[in-house]
Parts: sequence; C-alpha cells; structure tokens
Amino acid sequence: MCGIIGYIGEKKASPILINGLLCLEYRGYDSAGIATLEKDGITVKKDKGRVKNLYNLEGIDSLEGTVGIAHTRWATHGKPSMENAHPHLDNSSTFAVVHNGIIENYSELRDFLTEKGYHFLSQTDTEVIPNLIHYYFSQDSKKDDDQLLRAVKSTCDDLKGSYAIEVISPLFPDRIIVVRKDSPLVIGTCKKENHIASDIPAVLAFTKNFYLLNDQEYAVVYKNRIRFFDASLVEHTKAINNIEWDAAAAEKDGFEDYMLKEIYEQPNAIRETIGSRFRLGEKCSFDDINLTKEYLSSLDKIYFVACGTAMHAGLIAKNVVEKLCRIPCEVEVASEFRYRDPIIDEKTLCIFISQSGETADTIAALKLAKQKGCKTLTITNVIGSSITREADYTIYTHAGPEIAVASTKAYTSQIVLLIILAMHFAEILNSYPEEKIEKLKADILDIPSKIETILDNVDEIKAFAKKVYTQKDMFFLGRGMDYAVSMEGSLKLKEISYIHSEAYAAGELKHGPIALIENGVTVIGVITDPKLVEKSISNMQEIITRGAYTLVVTNQVLPNVHFNSVINIPETDPLLSSLLSIVPLQCLSYYISKNKGLDVDKPRNLAKSVTVE
Ligand code: AGP
Ligand code: GLU
Repeated sequence: MCGIIGYIGEKKASPILINGLLCLEYRGYDSAGIATLEKDGITVKKDKGRVKNLYNLEGIDSLEGTVGIAHTRWATHGKPSMENAHPHLDNSSTFAVVHNGIIENYSELRDFLTEKGYHFLSQTDTEVIPNLIHYYFSQDSKKDDDQLLRAVKSTCDDLKGSYAIEVISPLFPDRIIVVRKDSPLVIGTCKKENHIASDIPAVLAFTKNFYLLNDQEYAVVYKNRIRFFDASLVEHTKAINNIEWDAAAAEKDGFEDYMLKEIYEQPNAIRETIGSRFRLGEKCSFDDINLTKEYLSSLDKIYFVACGTAMHAGLIAKNVVEKLCRIPCEVEVASEFRYRDPIIDEKTLCIFISQSGETADTIAALKLAKQKGCKTLTITNVIGSSITREADYTIYTHAGPEIAVASTKAYTSQIVLLIILAMHFAEILNSYPEEKIEKLKADILDIPSKIETILDNVDEIKAFAKKVYTQKDMFFLGRGMDYAVSMEGSLKLKEISYIHSEAYAAGELKHGPIALIENGVTVIGVITDPKLVEKSISNMQEIITRGAYTLVVTNQVLPNVHFNSVINIPETDPLLSSLLSIVPLQCLSYYISKNKGLDVDKPRNLAKSVTVE
C-alpha cells in the first residue's frame, strides 16, 4: 500500500508532487521519492522516512522538469531504506517507475531478468517492472509512438498480483503511462495539465474532473490530452466524473488532527448518509439496489464481510437485521472468509463493508462470493472505488473523505446506513411493526444532535485519559451490542495509543480473563442495553472488587456502585445506542494518544487503506 502522484503540465513538477504526497501520507509513510524528467534524463530523489524529508534532499530545489512521478511507500518487500524507496529505474536509467501493490511472481521474474543480464539494486518486488519494460522495449523492432505503451503492456501481462503503476521515460518526454490492477489510481484533468493520484482528495485542489481507471486499463497521459486503452491495447473513450467534494473538506479545518476533525464531523456525516433515504411517514428508499420481496424472502442467510472497524459495523448490523428481519446473519473478517470455502449460494446475500473500497481482502472475499453464485452488495465511502466495480449493488455512506488512519466517522455512517437498509428490508418483508420502524426513524434523525451533545462535553473523558495514559493494558467490557462497541473502542485504543487492550463479552470474564484483573488495571464498561444493565453491573462489581480502575459509558440509571468515572450519554433506542456510546471511546483513545505525544493520524505500522493482503 502506498500513495502515488504524477504530474504533467507546464509548471515545475517537484513541488506539486511533494504536496500531493503529503496528502497521501496516510496511505504509507516509511519512505518517499520523486522522479522528474530533466534536460539530461531522469532525476530521482528519494529517501527513507516521511515525505517532508524530501524537502531537505540535496538538489531537490533545482529540479526544473514539468513531468514527474512520486511515491510514498509502505513496504511489503524489502525494509524501508533509500535503496528500496520508489521510484525505481531500469539498469539503463531509461524508465522510471512507481508502484503500489505486490508483484507475487517477482522472484521468478527476477530470475528471468538476471539470466538476461539485468541486475538489481533493491530488495523490492517493484524493481522487476522497469527492467521488464526495458527488456520488452528493446525486443520491439517497431519504433513508433506507442512502443513504450506496448512495452508496459507486455510487462503487465507477465505480472501476477496487484499494481498501480506510473512510468516515465526521457525517450517519450511528453507523457506518463499509467495502468492499474486491484490497486487504486485516478487521473484529475484540467487545462494544460493532468494529475495522477491514488485517491481523489490528493488532487482536489487542482480539479473536480476525474477519470477513474478500471482494472487493467491503460492511460497515456499528456499535458493536454489523455488516451485510454483496454487490456489488449484497443483504444477507447472514457467518461469523466465530476467529483463534488470540496477541497477544504479534505483538509483539517482548524482541528489539530484529522482524527479529531473526523470525530466532530460525525453528526454531519450521519445527516449526509441519511440524506433522502427516508422521511418520517414514508418508506425507506433504495432505488439503487432494487431487491424484491421474493428475493429477500428466499434468503436463508445474510453475511457481513469486512475488515477491522468496518467488520465491527457489521457486528452491529447483524443484531439489527436479525431483530428487524428475522434473517440469520453472520459476520466474518474478510481475510478468513476468503480462504474458508464458506457455505453460500443464491439464498445468501453477502454484504461487504469498506470505507475505502480498496481493501484487498474484502475485494477478494467479494469476488469469491460472486463465484459461488450469491448476490453481492457493498457499502463504501469512496465513489468509484475498486469494490464498487465488482459488486452487484453499491450504496454509499457519503461521510466525506476520511483521512485519519483510525476510522471514526466511517464507522458511525456505516452503522446508520446498515440500520436504514435493515428497516428497508423489514418494510419489504413486513417483518417488524410499522409503528416501531417509524419510531426508529425518528430516533435516527435525533442521533446527530445527540452526538453533538456528547462532543460538547468531553472534559470528563479528557480527565480520565490524563489519569490512565501511562497504563500498559486496558480492558473493555460489554454485553450484546455493547460488546460490539467495546471491540471497536479497544481497536481504536490499540491503533493510536499502542496500549494493549482487549474487549470481552462481560459474561465471559469469569471464564478466564478475570485472572488478569489486579489493583489499578483500567477497565472500561459500556452499559446501554436496559435489559442487560443488572448483568453488566454485576460483572463490573466483580472487577471493582479486584481493584480495577473503572470508567463506564452509559445512558442508564445505574445502581449505587463506585466507578472512578461515568460518562453519561443521551438515551436512544437500544438498536441505535452504538452510534452514541462509541463517541466517548473514540475521544478517549484520541486524548490518550495525545497525552502520550503520539502521531494520532499516522500511527506506526498502519496505513489507511490496506490494498495488499
Ligand atoms: C480502522 O480504524 C482501521 N484503520 C482498519 O481496521 C480499517 O477499518 C480496515 O482496514 C478496513 O478498511 P476499509 O473500511 O477501508 O475496508
Ligand atoms: N511492493 C512494493 C514495495 O514494497 C510497493 C509497496 C507499496 O504499495 O507501497 O516497495
């Protein structure tokens, strides 16, 4: 996984490339580099570490080229180092390449090239690409304008795995050749210049007009035109997409970090996600998926498949769909599902949840489900993302760009959309009383302002964060949907504070983990389900007796128990309470991370979209 930028136009490329990389750093940040076409050929500047290090590299200011490619890396093959940083060159320095993805058969290709006399300077899988391009280029006796394109195509025909690639060469100084397969790439187009990027926000400052490349589609990008070719190099025309996102929406908006901004954006993100899906007194509307009563009645199972936070949204959806539609649901992490030969057929509906729409495991799981003959529906936040091209149906969360690695507003938007979808199914199936659905709709409409109330009162959370940030371990407890929220709270804490934490179903505690509770251990309880309050309280009592330091997030009136801290959140229908109870947990992780002085938006070892396995 990494970020790719390309520029071709009339301006000096290097500052545009570096600025673009800064926007993409959430995708990878262990090394960075750029290559521009200069008077005397390709110049590469790259180094280990963050993108900003590029500013200090000798000679970076004297680059004059108006064509260039750039990369911020998240290593898969070879440690982060200057040699392994992209761009990579072929042995004759005629072709420069940046690559996002994994070349699975790189060792075979390396052997082949070594036998032909090529040598390698890095440990990356990527370095075979420029050398293969050189190999095919020199084999091609037809010296015409498309010789480089053909060499890139022959190279890609040999590659197994995933890639988004940019290629430049001084032999063709008027173009950048790009292609993608299972890794994202978009082209933003404007007058007399074109921008290439791994995602849209990185070039929104320049244009709102984008071409979204399909898998195995090639583009030859010039400064004032773009030619598109399919996998067999047949040229075609392509429609442009107008992206309505505001460039400012992708910036920090005065917040210290993207994560905090995104936590505070949740009320509006949810309002956008609700959009016109329903109005009080009217049925939910999903014209974009059009699933019939006959089809929904034929289902014997719904699967929710996703990774990380998106999978946690699936856990909430399972509870809501089962309650409203009485269809059995399963939730599974995509990386397990895809290798497990799951029992699915035309009577199964598989729902894939992915903020980025680029998660490799989730896309592979979707492809498997399709092969097995079931309908696939995806819920994503990124318009035109790879997953949308594979799924039978796509519905969007409309949460706006999420930049921080730790997902916040995507989670609550996914849950809202999944609940509306469940109400829609229930309306079709007549499986839940109409008046209860109507009440649920009214409660959903109140959620954004209730989140605002929570976010207006974070002092108690800040104070608790200050007390516990030096801890090594923490536990999260809950029952039912409160357990699902605990899992998400625990994941947030791990990701950005590097504190070891575990989420347990509160009733499971005495079957083992309670042995870990001793004086001073921090335990966070989530208690919102009125039916389970007493049970959860008993579990909390058990750990208080053993000396735990406790925080409880609740919307219930609790019996007189001594918790060290209590965060009261507004009441709502128990089916919706995760949308509120997660917010203090997101804030808690955030403030713990800040107290520790960590980089909240770019936690170590993580990247925003996991486009490799
Ligand atoms: C969330 O905080 C994580 N960074 C991660 O678990 C993420 O949710 C997961 O990688 C799935 O991403 P996706 O929604 O883009 O598919
Ligand atoms: N596989 C390539 C490498 O390790 C690219 C990784 C990425 O997508 O950042 O360099």
